[in-house]
Amino acid sequence: MAMIDHDTVIRILDAANIVEVIQDFVTLKKRGANYIGLCPFHHEKTPSFNVSPSKGIYKCFGCGKGGSVVNFLMEHEHFSYPEALKYLARKYNIEVVEKELTDEEKRQQSERESLLVLTSWAQKFFTRMLNQHPEGREVGMSYFRERGFREETLKEYQLGYCPEERGILSKSAQQAGYKKEFLLKSGLSVERGPELADRFSGRVIFPIHSISGQVIGFGGRILKSGEKTAKYLNSPESEIYHKSRIVYGIFQAKREIISREKCYLVEGYTDVLSLFQAGIKNVVASSGTALTPEQIRLIRRFTGNVTVIYDGDEAGIKASLRGIDLLLEEGLDVRVVAMPPGEDPDSFARKVSQNELEEYIRNHEQDFISFKTSLLLEEASSDPVKRAQMITEVVRSIALISDRIKRAVYIRECASLLDIDEKILYTEVYQRRRKKAEETFRKFSLDQEVRLRSTPVPSFVKEVYSEPQEKEIIRLLLHYGDRELFPLDELAPESEYISVAEYIIQEIKNDELEFRNLVYRKIFEDYQRLLSRGEEPDHRYFINHDDPQVRELVADLLSNPYVLSKVHSRKGVHVKTEDLILKKSVPETLIAYKTKILKMAAQEKLSEIGKAQEKKLPTEEITRIQQEYRIIKEVITTIAHDRKMVIIT
Ligand code: CTP
Ligand code: MN
Repeated sequence: MAMIDHDTVIRILDAANIVEVIQDFVTLKKRGANYIGLCPFHHEKTPSFNVSPSKGIYKCFGCGKGGSVVNFLMEHEHFSYPEALKYLARKYNIEVVEKELTDEEKRQQSERESLLVLTSWAQKFFTRMLNQHPEGREVGMSYFRERGFREETLKEYQLGYCPEERGILSKSAQQAGYKKEFLLKSGLSVERGPELADRFSGRVIFPIHSISGQVIGFGGRILKSGEKTAKYLNSPESEIYHKSRIVYGIFQAKREIISREKCYLVEGYTDVLSLFQAGIKNVVASSGTALTPEQIRLIRRFTGNVTVIYDGDEAGIKASLRGIDLLLEEGLDVRVVAMPPGEDPDSFARKVSQNELEEYIRNHEQDFISFKTSLLLEEASSDPVKRAQMITEVVRSIALISDRIKRAVYIRECASLLDIDEKILYTEVYQRRRKKAEETFRKFSLDQEVRLRSTPVPSFVKEVYSEPQEKEIIRLLLHYGDRELFPLDELAPESEYISVAEYIIQEIKNDELEFRNLVYRKIFEDYQRLLSRGEEPDHRYFINHDDPQVRELVADLLSNPYVLSKVHSRKGVHVKTEDLILKKSVPETLIAYKTKILKMAAQEKLSEIGKAQEKKLPTEEITRIQQEYRIIKEVITTIAHDRKMVIIT
């Protein structure tokens, strides 16, 4: 069911720059020819996620995930293959000629895609209502104006309005061909009576965007006061919207978060809008829910510094304290700013000028430890029991920080603020951490057991690591297959050259060797087949291979520059690029491979001889096996000599 024709696919893949694409999701820093960043697929504090623009691949050396730009989108955004291609096509303005879908194909379109198409349509509908519908203009628009939101802010956040007219969105959507099923699943419509009703009827709309800017859900605020219904309503959880995994405003804020190396965290939609409007654009909101680890990790992809701006009331402070501990636990540097009593960031930002706001934030930003201690000091200064509790509280937070040096800094600060001996704090923190480590260990070993029983390590993985020589040959093939190796005629250096690939294939075929690892074997055979057809097999063919094991392995090999250089540095040959040493490394690798196979065969012969003697087989038989054994040993010696030649020349 190829919906995008092959030529278009190639054009899309040609246009896509993997660094540009991944940069929309991960902060990347240039490191030599490659880029590195914090892996979005697992929890880490030091970057091991690599992107190679020249090879068009990404690879995490921590968790092993890797592949092409398409694989990245499939893995990260949970796109299907065609969804990923269409995403790239949109990004690079490539027209996708899709053939007319049959009913069957329409049915098969993934639910995700259908929901995203619908939410995108609904966002445009709500925005149109805000700007054009009389009620939208009189009620919705006046409300936003009253709150001081400017045109550019409305545009940036794609705000909208849902008129009160019964089922206005549900009806228009169905007229436009959207199915009831998805209207209900997205939560835009609710079943009430014979016809669909609109969830957000009579509310101003705040679309919620994914990191890449797709509309995945909505928040709607009621305008009339005194209604019995909740002030804010949000989209329900769905295939595309998980409220615990997204923060409001991240799409609009991400660039600024990266460039300012900081993210402001507030509570609500309007806080984000008002700060954005006041020029503080690196701001996101947890949108009413308690901060979750997933939300924090999302922020951490862009920066390690979070400043929590909380409301100047007790509830705001309590909420911020919980959030702070989670942030610390996820390895972020946390600072806090308290709004003046009775203000939230939105109300305060509207009260003061942009300069005053910036100055206020600058002057009131504290690190979490002085914030927390001073807060608790106020409560507990005189009461010794409370004071002890408070110390425990602060110690608990410090113990969450995994960086030892940072911990030490905070302990010192805390000791001086509370006027306690640093050593006492150290001991307390240490004990807490040890207890935690023990718990984690117990939990971890439990998990391990479960894992061993449910999913055994695939044999493929075992094979890969038991056959380093096979791996190395395939790596050379993929990296340097098309390079010239030796002139066909040693005496006429101007003559035609044999390429690395041709040399390797010839060596393997001549000895009738076969790779034991099935994935390597497949790559080798595919390579050979393409070459014999006169095609030039390149990375792109293999990183877009339809066998996922091949894709993964190739990504792994293409991004691992260390294997060979290790071999060489051991011998004291230190060269910068493998290119220069191909003449040595290719034959050497093949020799190493063959030696390994021969040694294994020799071992086998030896045990055969032992068995034959045990079973008292006829002498001729035993002599024959011994003969074979001697031949193998001789070949090993010859090869060792060849190898010396290779090393010397
Ligand atoms: N919220 C919610 N559901 C509610 C109340 C609040 O989802 N019933 C979320 C919204 O994301 C809201 C945030 O919690 O933006 C903060 O709530 P609150 O402080 O009550 O609202 P404000 O952002 O101050 O909204 P407004 O200024 O419009 O009253
Ligand atoms: Mn408010």
